[in-house]
Amino acid sequence: MGSRLIAPSILAADFGNLQHDVEMVNKSEADWFHIDIMDGVFVPNISYGMPVLKAIAAHAKKPLDVHLMIIDPDRYIKAFAELDSSILTVHYEACTHLHRTLQAIKSEGMQTGVALNPHTNISVLEDTIKDIDIVLIMSVNPGFGGQSFIENTYDKVRSLKAMINGKNASTRIEVDGGVTDKNAKELVEAGADVLVAGSFIFKSDDQLTTIHDLKTIAN
Ligand code: DX5
Ligand code: ZN
Repeated sequence: MGSRLIAPSILAADFGNLQHDVEMVNKSEADWFHIDIMDGVFVPNISYGMPVLKAIAAHAKKPLDVHLMIIDPDRYIKAFAELDSSILTVHYEACTHLHRTLQAIKSEGMQTGVALNPHTNISVLEDTIKDIDIVLIMSVNPGFGGQSFIENTYDKVRSLKAMINGKNASTRIEVDGGVTDKNAKELVEAGADVLVAGSFIFKSDDQLTTIHDLKTIAN
């Protein structure tokens, strides 16, 4: 088994049968649960909050990779730690004091993640990269599943990989939005370590096979 990871985005799951979809991910070759939290302010959509995350956490047997698309995320760092989040990702664009936020995530025992919107240049992370376990490159504008992949992402991942290597950092690169079997190979070749996929997995007829195929392409 290779080291590139697959993180199904629960946003695309069937919320009427959430436990069923969580068990499917448990049984699959996927590595993490990707959990999208949206506040209707930072992004033009509201997803789900703590009660739903609690229900997911009760059945999930793999790490929870929580992607916060909310303003002022510092207010909830402790709450997400208590809900068993392994990775807590905040948006660069939502943090006035990113360095302080990263220290707070670490002190709660979680891995640190920073997400960049499509318009945000990777250079803004030069001074914090060593404090970041995972950089999440948004390959769509955040807020909705099922959007199409922005092609500039490949170059962005390549530049970020070069920055990480240049700084001798061990930061991993995650790509989120519009990921399918058509772009997975080029993304890992560009330097991606983790691929998030929502619609491509959950809207497919055979989800376990779709996850298997993505995992195989990525490794
Ligand atoms: C978008 C979310 C993504 C989304 C991905 O704002 O961050 O995680 O669920 O969904 P797909 O794979 O359908 O683009
Ligand atoms: Zn996400």
